Amino acid sequence: SSAEKDGHDWFMRKEIFEQPRAVADSLIGRRTPSGLLQLDEMRLADEELRDVDKIIIIACGTSFYAGMVAKYAIEHWTRTPVEVELASEFRYRDPIIDSTTLIVAISQSGETADTLQAIRHARSQRAKVLAICNTNGSSIPRESDAVIYTHAGPEIGVASTKGFLTQLVACYLLALYIAQVKGTRFGDEIDEIMRHLEAMPDHIETVLGTADQVYGLAADHASTRSVLFLGRHAGYPVALEGALKLKELAYLHAEGFAAGELKHGPIALIEEGLPVLCVVPPKGRDHLHGKMLSGIQEVRARGARTICLAEEGDASIEPYADVLIRLPKVPVLLQPLVSIVPLQLFACELATVLGHDVDQPRNLAKSVTVE
Ligand code: G6P
Repeated sequence: SSAEKDGHDWFMRKEIFEQPRAVADSLIGRRTPSGLLQLDEMRLADEELRDVDKIIIIACGTSFYAGMVAKYAIEHWTRTPVEVELASEFRYRDPIIDSTTLIVAISQSGETADTLQAIRHARSQRAKVLAICNTNGSSIPRESDAVIYTHAGPEIGVASTKGFLTQLVACYLLALYIAQVKGTRFGDEIDEIMRHLEAMPDHIETVLGTADQVYGLAADHASTRSVLFLGRHAGYPVALEGALKLKELAYLHAEGFAAGELKHGPIALIEEGLPVLCVVPPKGRDHLHGKMLSGIQEVRARGARTICLAEEGDASIEPYADVLIRLPKVPVLLQPLVSIVPLQLFACELATVLGHDVDQPRNLAKSVTVE
């Protein structure tokens, strides 16, 4: 009923709007009074974490894209090598794992068969397994050595939204916790990132304020056959997730690309009027922003309609954006928490306009318990 959906038409839309609260809940109780990070339920001793010399993240679907963001964060903050692998591929390639490998299994439901089989394989090779999961007592955390629960609350829409954002939060917390234990980052740096994370619920609220603009955009694209998504760095998995949402809900051809790869193939797809959603990284010292900008110029010169998500105050993007959606100013590694939100709203609304059942997309299940 509409009461269960808080007056929204779909559970998915309700869950998108619950994200500020879900992110806030996932941050509760993570710091001691002296400001140190603590991950209570985690059950991995500091010595065990210090011994970890390789991390392999395994997941499926949207959770896999959270894992891609996690790789960037964990490697940057902890200097520990990280691989990210689709759970369905992992054990069939004879992966190199031993007792100093930490497997991080990310699963909203905790019941995905591909992920469960992958952790069983990892444990049989003596690796430690840490689950990041939204469902208390489900199979994946039960069969893991340690768990970080996300606190999204029950997610009913088949396409994951608040599950994804809270997985990102858990991944950042894990990365910072490892940095604290291994001493690869100073306490004041960790504290600064935590303060950015603690500001995120307000920032996400701000992005939700763009909903009407995004809905207008979705209505304009009701007859679109194909949409491309471009991102770089932590924005690359966001591009992939934005495309996945459109496939799942609007049944459209959609593809995400790393913007730097454009010239190596995908630019051949650009034709007059093709919508290209561009996740623009924040301006920083790393040249990412400038390189993204030239990618946007390239596709626009070939006729693409550029829909850009860029931080407030970034005027350099204005000449090249046919549509500009503003994001709050946040550090590049944390930007997925805000940049994915308009893409979720876009897919939800476009599917609604097309008359599809947003909560129960055809052929999909909320949790896939067969391999
Ligand atoms: C299914 C769902 C996806 C989800 C994936 C992984 O395919 O339709 O939305 O991302 O499973 O689910 P999990 O529960 O393991 O995160």
